[in-house]
Amino acid sequence: MKISFKTDSSEQTERFGEALSKYLEAGTIIALDGDLGAGKTCLTRGIARGIGATTLVASPTFTIVNEYEGGRLMLYHFDTYRLSGEDDFYASGLDEYFMKDGICVIEWGEVIEGALPSDTMKMKISGNGDERQFDITEAGKVGGENIIKAASEAGCIVL
Ligand SMILES: Nc1ncnc2c1ncn2[C@@H]1O[C@H](COP(=O)(O)OP(=O)(O)O)[C@@H](O)[C@H]1O
Ligand SMILES: [Mg+2]
Repeated sequence: MKISFKTDSSEQTERFGEALSKYLEAGTIIALDGDLGAGKTCLTRGIARGIGATTLVASPTFTIVNEYEGGRLMLYHFDTYRLSGEDDFYASGLDEYFMKDGICVIEWGEVIEGALPSDTMKMKISGNGDERQFDITEAGKVGGENIIKAASEAGCIVL
């Protein structure tokens, strides 16, 4: 499967995240890839806003996971950039987050590719200037139709 769309500003990327959040349920895992500055954190901010998260809580492994509470669901925001791979992920007990009743968004998902559940939504962000292309290779639990709906709701150009 492949879904692609574009955003033309960081605001629009956040709006997409906000729109997407409506279709996320407990146990949803989203893996984001793309270079530094691609917009992974920007998108995650939109998701946090969309679920109504109000508080950022430092988790026991706060250098890798940040927890956002106060919203419809907990949001666990991972940045696995500093992990050396899956072994490191398991050794830190981070896979336990996948069992929780929240949403997991993982920046640099490729680093822990082998640890990602089969129903993970996978998205790659690329581009420069103010334009970004989003390529979804796995819709996972969210479903392709919902991803397209969210992109349309945010006014993105679906390719
Ligand atoms: N269309 C866009 N979508 C997201 N970010 C954009 C876009 N255009 C420009 N930017 C800029 O790119 C940067 C993205 O940063 P960030 O979200 O922290 O990236 P990452 O987490 O992938 O390293 C921000 O400075 C943002 O303003
Ligand atoms: Mg980031």
